[in-house]
Amino acid sequence: MRIPLNRSAQEPIYLQIRDRISHLITSGALQAGEQLPSIRALAESVQVNKLTVIEAYSVLEADGLVSAKQGAGYFVNNAMLSPERSSTLETDQEVVIPSKWGESFFDQYMDSLQAQLHPDVIDFTSGFPRPSGLEDLAKIARRAMTQVADVLFSYDFPQGQFTLRKQVAQMLAWKLGLEASADNLIITNGSKQALSLAFQYYLRAGDWVIVECPTYHGAIAILEKMGIKVIGIPMQNDGMNLELLHQYLRSHQPKLIYTVSTLHNPTGITTSQSHRRELISLAEKYNCPILEDNAYEGLNFEPAPAPLKVLDRSDLVTYIGTFSKSLMPGLRVGYMVSTGKHYQALVELKLLHDLHVSTVTQAIASEYIASGHYRRHLNHLRTINHQRHDRMLQAMEQHFPSSVRWTVPNGGLFIWVQLPNHTPMQIVGQEAAAQQVLIGRGKLFFPDGQGYPAFRLNFSQSLEDIDRGIAILGNILKQHLA
Ligand SMILES: Cc1ncc(COP(=O)(O)O)c(C=O)c1O
Repeated sequence: MRIPLNRSAQEPIYLQIRDRISHLITSGALQAGEQLPSIRALAESVQVNKLTVIEAYSVLEADGLVSAKQGAGYFVNNAMLSPERSSTLETDQEVVIPSKWGESFFDQYMDSLQAQLHPDVIDFTSGFPRPSGLEDLAKIARRAMTQVADVLFSYDFPQGQFTLRKQVAQMLAWKLGLEASADNLIITNGSKQALSLAFQYYLRAGDWVIVECPTYHGAIAILEKMGIKVIGIPMQNDGMNLELLHQYLRSHQPKLIYTVSTLHNPTGITTSQSHRRELISLAEKYNCPILEDNAYEGLNFEPAPAPLKVLDRSDLVTYIGTFSKSLMPGLRVGYMVSTGKHYQALVELKLLHDLHVSTVTQAIASEYIASGHYRRHLNHLRTINHQRHDRMLQAMEQHFPSSVRWTVPNGGLFIWVQLPNHTPMQIVGQEAAAQQVLIGRGKLFFPDGQGYPAFRLNFSQSLEDIDRGIAILGNILKQHLA
């Protein structure tokens, strides 16, 4: 296997090896079931240390592209080989500066929880994967409790437990190439708290903030409560429109750019390396901080470009991640990476909020990582999510009218469906609910509750629910879009 390496490049060697092999797999040059060279053989042929190859193979495994078979070596997975599809999203949106706000995040959140109480309902609205791996949980929680039993009788540091911060820092380094130390990490109550802290740190009532349009409705809700003025920059197939971003950075001097650049909620879009470079250089030019929300970290089917934080040379980017989407939202463990003078200020803010995240849940997350269950769980999740993603797209191709467009995400949980302008969205939603199918209403994700007609589908449902739910939605759409 030929792996050209650039030894003077900034990108670590193990990531260069990972990129090359993943390219060989996704381009079909390496076929499903094929064995990768042994660690020793590859280390000798590309003249690197065996540990470097082990790191590269571990990342490929974490990316879900290969699996290790004990005693036999590494083999290419076949779950990743899905038909070529690409997003058909086509919007001609303008910048949104809301003077009024959309539906309440609170009402929508409560509705979604209510829906979970009815097992007959096919709920495409939820924002997390279906439960799995519960058998491991009791064992892991017991071990975690034993390890922190002493600490539970006192308060803990606001930035979180050192062990967990160190583990997350290592994970970010080898999975994403994001080199941070435990002293750059703050463990938060989910990434939602990290968002609140960062918004409070960077913004004051009356300030302008840039968001993608559409964007995560939980973020819009916080901004609204804080009296922040929002500029919604339209999302295109390759991320937010950078020309418009440039224009508004110049004209409005916003105090922050909020972006979900990987597996965006709700569209599922992942921006390219060049989009990221351009975004960073615009932020640098206008000295505008960026809040990078990577809530769907680790759920990509194929390698994603390195986070914006990796490109950050001026402490402009605050990075946010969470265990909610990759493990379980009920743990309420998220994290933020902050560098330079911002770190201490954010730790102080965290202390004022709630002193610290529960020591028990931090210990459970930590034990998941230490025991290797987290890595295995993530691999499993990605494999089943990929199968469900493909199944949903296939069902949509079969049942949805040709005037409907949608994104084809490289992972995460959501497909974003765009409908023709005249579609009566409220009626579509009501008719679907009457047949026990719930869809995430698109208007929730637009800062002014308007935007084009759209809905968000969570594809991590069972295959039977996907087939039945999409067929029902297809029938309803055909009646309205004839
Ligand atoms: C983009 C994004 N950020 C943050 C969150 C908050 O997640 P949590 O607080 O559970 O980590 C969500 C949840 O849906 C999300 O989609």
